[in-house]
Amino acid sequence: MADVHEYRIVLLGPPGAGKGTQGKLLESSLGIPSVSTGDMLREAMEKGSDLGHTARGYIQKGELVPDDLVIRMVSQMVESDRFARGFILDGFPRTLEQANSLDQILFTGGKSLSHALYFDLSEEEAVRRISGRLVCKSCQKMYHLAYNPPPPSGRCDCGGELFVREDDKEETVRNRVNVYNNQTKPLLSYYNQKGILWTIDASLSIQEVHQKVLEIVNANG
Ligand code: AP5
Repeated sequence: MADVHEYRIVLLGPPGAGKGTQGKLLESSLGIPSVSTGDMLREAMEKGSDLGHTARGYIQKGELVPDDLVIRMVSQMVESDRFARGFILDGFPRTLEQANSLDQILFTGGKSLSHALYFDLSEEEAVRRISGRLVCKSCQKMYHLAYNPPPPSGRCDCGGELFVREDDKEETVRNRVNVYNNQTKPLLSYYNQKGILWTIDASLSIQEVHQKVLEIVNANG
């Protein structure tokens, strides 16, 4: 499958819709890298780099990091050899400017996106999912206290320590949802007009959502 088709996929949806969870599953199923801009920015924060320092101020408030910083970070990656045979982008693009830049970078390399997958979930459920989330410090795997509990050891499958994200406080989550509605939701019509948008009911179980995603990418590869 992955050796015949070149998938270039972006994952869209509100905070907590399951983009990260599905990105990792799809990475294993398709054999192409899945990259989360949120994870990259949190890594930069952890390292204490200039980018991380700037990003922290926005992330803690639930605001978007400025386009120029995020576009620079992603464009270097998209042009790298690792991404040459396809990729899954989780959390990018998030604004029309980011979407246009991504199209431009790919176009310059004679490529284009194959799928924009939209994980459709109510705000109420999204907030519920985020409030129980735990993330592994080592491999970034996501758990949920009720829906997808960690092993009895309280650590990740890989042995890594689990933590609660700085921006997962309810007040910040509400702002992230507003920011999503105002700045990211317009991308749905952008990709719909290009004929590459697929909507998935993200309220189903993790495995059911993964099956739907596989059906879509296999039928429209
Ligand atoms: P980012 O890390 O991308 O956060 P987000 O988009 O708000 O999305 P989340 O990671 O919260 O949720 P998700 O959809 O990945 O769901 P998950 O799989 O974890 O961005 C964080 C911040 O970084 C932004 O606010 C912004 O400041 C900045 N940033 C990032 N990208 C940027 C960009 N391009 N431009 C500018 N700024 C940017 O699942 C959530 C929980 O639900 C987990 O506990 C999981 O186990 C559980 N779960 C998942 N699926 C299911 C299911 N089907 N059933 C039950 N539980 C489920």
